[in-house]
Amino acid sequence: MRSLPYFCRGQVVRGFGRGSKDLGIPTANFPESVVDNLPADISTGIYYGWACVDNGDIHKMVMSIGWNPYYKNTKKSMETHVIHKFKEDFYGQILSVAMVGYIRPERGFGSLDELIAAIHSDIEEAKIKLDLPEHLKLKEHHFFKTSVATTANQILNGHRL
Ligand SMILES: Cc1cc2nc3c(=O)[nH]c(=O)nc-3n(C[C@H](O)[C@H](O)[C@H](O)COP(=O)(O)O)c2cc1C
Repeated sequence: MRSLPYFCRGQVVRGFGRGSKDLGIPTANFPESVVDNLPADISTGIYYGWACVDNGDIHKMVMSIGWNPYYKNTKKSMETHVIHKFKEDFYGQILSVAMVGYIRPERGFGSLDELIAAIHSDIEEAKIKLDLPEHLKLKEHHFFKTSVATTANQILNGHRL
């Protein structure tokens, strides 16, 4: 995918709330403006990368892009699970992400347990891949140093930064 790494940020909006409740894996949803601006070559599927909330620490993340075939959503979404235990929800705050690699396509599953197991395996894969030097260096990218306040409403692609 030509557009990777892809950098974007936006305000965290409410999803269906199933991530925390059904899956025990909280996810932060981007607003439509961010989803609609994805370059055409970023296909639906599961990605890994780096994320930070407002001007906080940078953590590993996994992201699902698409229609969640298990739940048969009708609207395309970008849902990020930040691999870190946060004390509170961060709805309304600014989430900045660098998508650096692709893991797999989205799938339907026969049971919720299978979906949960697949996401846990994505998380393990992301943790390992992100320790590679070429991915670690993206944590230091100036995208994460630019002020969230001045760029909250912009969609930023790393290739143009
Ligand atoms: C790493 C990751 C992988 C996912 N893989 C799938 C998948 O293969 N199929 C699917 O239907 N949903 C998948 N999801 C989406 C979850 O079903 C979704 O995050 C959950 O329904 C919570 O959505 P909500 O925040 O809108 O409630 C994945 C989510 C994450 C974070």
